Amino acid sequence: MPIRKITEYPEKVLAEIGKPVTVFDEELENLCADMFETMYEAEGVGLAAQQIGLPMQLFVMDCEGVKLVAANPEIIATTGEQSNSEGCLSIGKVPAIVVRAERATLRAQDAKGEWFEHTAEGYAARCFQHETDHCNGKLFIDRLPKMRRDMVVKRFRKEKNWK
Ligand code: NI
Repeated sequence: MPIRKITEYPEKVLAEIGKPVTVFDEELENLCADMFETMYEAEGVGLAAQQIGLPMQLFVMDCEGVKLVAANPEIIATTGEQSNSEGCLSIGKVPAIVVRAERATLRAQDAKGEWFEHTAEGYAARCFQHETDHCNGKLFIDRLPKMRRDMVVKRFRKEKNWK
């Protein structure tokens, strides 16, 4: 399975709303396998299709024991609040504190098209919210006040120049 190139901010595809997944076939399973492999290689805990250049409603994650494929994901319930550090493979993992719901219920389809609901808390719930945002063309920096968003982007650009 090939490792895919991870798209980086400000590539346009990251801001695109994903198209719904309608075909659940071997091709989709292969794509998910590539996404897992790409995510593990980059030492991430979640990866959305936008991050390999495909505007689709699709993400994979493996975070605190929650390993799943989510097609057509939706956060259907949230409770509480958490303020923790968050980063993104598409923005060089530059961290920033983001406010998210503490507990979130994800509704999505697996790689075979079966609908499921999964409730998680803490880091895994954060991951549900971060990846579902990706599928809707939204990055975690879009949830930051402008000044902090600019700081993350600045640091990301600086670190890119060092490489
Ligand atoms: Ni991300």
